[in-house]
Amino acid sequence: MTAQIRLVEITDANRDAVTAVRVHPAQEKFVASVATSFRHARENPKANPWFRAVYRGDEPVGFVMLSWNLTPEPGLRGPYFLWRLLVGAGHQGRGYGTAILDEVVALLRADGATELLTSCVPGEGTPEPFYRGYGFVPTGEIDDDGEVVLKLDLSVRS
Ligand SMILES: CC(C)(COP(=O)(O)OP(=O)(O)OC[C@H]1O[C@@H](n2cnc3c(N)ncnc32)[C@H](O)[C@@H]1OP(=O)(O)O)[C@@H](O)C(=O)NCCC(=O)NCCS
Repeated sequence: MTAQIRLVEITDANRDAVTAVRVHPAQEKFVASVATSFRHARENPKANPWFRAVYRGDEPVGFVMLSWNLTPEPGLRGPYFLWRLLVGAGHQGRGYGTAILDEVVALLRADGATELLTSCVPGEGTPEPFYRGYGFVPTGEIDDDGEVVLKLDLSVRS
């Protein structure tokens, strides 16, 4: 069964609660924090940042950020790039990560996207198996930061 989550806009009312969502310390090398993500979004307007908090009921359990329909150029992958995805340490392994991707994919398809790119840090504990399990495949590229680039084909209905 699909996990029940909602993507929620971030406002002054929920920003602190969402910023408090954190991954396990050992996972911090794989993903930047929510606070850092807000800064990256502010500092990179050309990346067309789009982000949402992820709620289960009234509780924030995760965060997702994409580059939304940008014009690709060196250093900026797209048009659609999954830039940040995290589920809080105490909430992982319950299908929320998969449910977030399902919600995002539905929004992307509605926007006419045909593929979603992402990248992940390789090594012990990498989220790459999560992405591959969802259907992402490696493009064969390694980006300038040594991250493995992955692609999800949205033209095929799952
Ligand atoms: C990766 C992440 C978003 C997955 O969220 P989640 O809610 O735990 O994922 P789900 O419960 O939907 O798991 C779906 C499947 O992926 C697997 N999976 C999840 N995280 C995994 C990981 N790090 N390594 C290997 N497999 C993983 C689950 O075991 C599950 O497998 P199953 O379907 O065979 O049972 C979450 O673990 C996370 O926030 N990790 C730390 C941050 C991170 O690495 N983000 C990605 C940045 S590129």
